[in-house]
Amino acid sequence: MNALTAEGVCRRYGEQEVLKDFSLALAEGEFVALMGPSGSGKSTFLHLAAGLLSADSGRILVGGADVTAMGDGAATKFRRRHVGVVFQSFNLLDERTVVENIVLPAKLDGAKPDPARVDELVKKLGLSGKERKRPSELSGGERQRVAIARALYSKPDIVLADEPTGNLDMKSAHEICAILKDLNGSERSAVLLVTHDPVVAAAAGRVAFLKDGAVAAVHETNNDPELIAKLYLSAYA
Ligand SMILES: Nc1ncnc2c1ncn2[C@@H]1O[C@H](COP(=O)(O)OP(=O)(O)O)[C@@H](O)[C@H]1O
Ligand SMILES: [Mg+2]
Repeated sequence: MNALTAEGVCRRYGEQEVLKDFSLALAEGEFVALMGPSGSGKSTFLHLAAGLLSADSGRILVGGADVTAMGDGAATKFRRRHVGVVFQSFNLLDERTVVENIVLPAKLDGAKPDPARVDELVKKLGLSGKERKRPSELSGGERQRVAIARALYSKPDIVLADEPTGNLDMKSAHEICAILKDLNGSERSAVLLVTHDPVVAAAAGRVAFLKDGAVAAVHETNNDPELIAKLYLSAYA
């Protein structure tokens, strides 16, 4: 079963058709980068896939369940179990520690904390020794690693990451994409990563270009930033 299947998704804001007939599929555990100019609808699609926004038509299946058909309450429940979200601005709670932030969505879902899972993620994300720190005591790169641990904690079908390196310096950004690539190998979760940076997109196996509200092309990346930059420039020439 696919991790994500979007079929003919349309979404408008007033008169503006942001997404029109957007279709994309990610196999289980697949890592895909989604690229496109600012304002092309990348964040809109991630919000739809996370069930944070409703589609005008079309459907989006996550692990076989149609998130576009869920009401707000059901979508929130579903998201806590099946979808991890990572934003450019981290979205951590500063009054909570690193560990509390990591387990928060699962806790809100009524799950018992799993210390072994927390330990596993803290180690994988290089956060050992930071467990009791508050987000404000961490660097940007460390904060984003906490957000990634939180996204992965419940072993979601898919992690949706919206420009997760957009607020980071180049070194931290490249650490984050190395971590995402590594985690995508060791965890079962698929990853859909929005980025403007070909070096970051090269962590993905395939890259999709969003144009005029639809996916205009999907290519293998060969993990090659130069190839991605070339494909990008010809897609938007
Ligand atoms: N809440 C909103 N109300 C009205 N227009 C919006 C809203 N959110 C996004 N848009 C518009 O939809 C278009 C796509 O936005 P977005 O999905 O954020 O693009 P991207 O993430 O690719 O930069 C933009 O033109 C933006 O102005
Ligand atoms: Mg955006």
